[in-house]
Amino acid sequence: MRRHPVAQMVIVGAIASAIGIAIALVIDWFPADAAEQAKPIDTLYDVLMIVSVPVFVLVTVVTLFAAWNFRMRPGQEHEDGPPIHGNTRLEVIWTAVPAILLVSLCSYAYVVLRDIEEKQPNTLVVHVTGQQFAWRYRYPQEGGRALETTQLVLPKDRPVLFKVHAEDVIHDFWVPAFRVKIDAVPGITTEVRATPTKLGRFPVVCAELCGLGHAVMRSTVRVVSPAAYDRWIEAQAAPATGGGTTGGEAGGGEGGGGATDLAALGRETFVSNCGSCHTLADAGTSGAAGPDLTTALAGQDEATIREDIVDPDKRVAEGYQAGVMPSNFAETLSAEQIDGLVAYLASVSR
Ligand code: CUA
Repeated sequence: MRRHPVAQMVIVGAIASAIGIAIALVIDWFPADAAEQAKPIDTLYDVLMIVSVPVFVLVTVVTLFAAWNFRMRPGQEHEDGPPIHGNTRLEVIWTAVPAILLVSLCSYAYVVLRDIEEKQPNTLVVHVTGQQFAWRYRYPQEGGRALETTQLVLPKDRPVLFKVHAEDVIHDFWVPAFRVKIDAVPGITTEVRATPTKLGRFPVVCAELCGLGHAVMRSTVRVVSPAAYDRWIEAQAAPATGGGTTGGEAGGGEGGGGATDLAALGRETFVSNCGSCHTLADAGTSGAAGPDLTTALAGQDEATIREDIVDPDKRVAEGYQAGVMPSNFAETLSAEQIDGLVAYLASVSR
């Protein structure tokens, strides 16, 4: 038996909604959740899907149904539709229902946002700076000092407040496993909170088109035990103190000690300026935006290395693009730092 067209429409709509909701909920859209903030956000996502899939299906099915059933048939070319002037009840319903839905969902989303952004005791503050095309991290230390590094290491189960900055253009700090994401905007400081709950390494991604190297502006967050975190902070802080003295003596000329100091300054400069994009086993860096220098450096002489640092687009390694590596290191680094980099990298290349 043939059903009434509106009954058909309702049946098609119900089946399509069920399939849509099943797809939305069954597929695991997100990476592993590694922060306290992840669960409430995933639940929010599921609820939004359950509500919005039927709305989408309803609109689509009614549109297709109307287009098919009320299409113009031969002989109707000069006819006009019936003169309809409003339907108060229908208009009240289709205004009220979406309004109630929107207000409810916005209230729910607001509550989730307020919960995940709640201030918590014993919060670790980490400054994140985006610059074409790498992330840098700064850990404020006691006594007003700060630890600058290209590595993001966090202790498990301790709340973290990221204070996010940008040096040049707008970037976007995103840790998919934490489900947190915030724009890095030049001139202002944005904030986002996360409490890591799983040990391991998770990707940090730039989620705002920021230039040629946007796609390679990636980093890694390493979540470790609180004890391992304390050891890491200590180990990072130690060479930084030594570095101050080294820098002062680096001008000391070609004596045996001077050359070693210059290379030490170079290694330090490399770790904080180059390591987020270049892997170099000797420096312990693992960036992947540029060539892996552990192999690419072999046999390069000092002149070539210097040119590759100050004029990177002159000779671009195969498989990489010009314009990704900053071309202003001659201005942003001191002459001493560049001499150090050249000395260090030349010593590694041998
Ligand atoms: Cu930085 Cu995209």
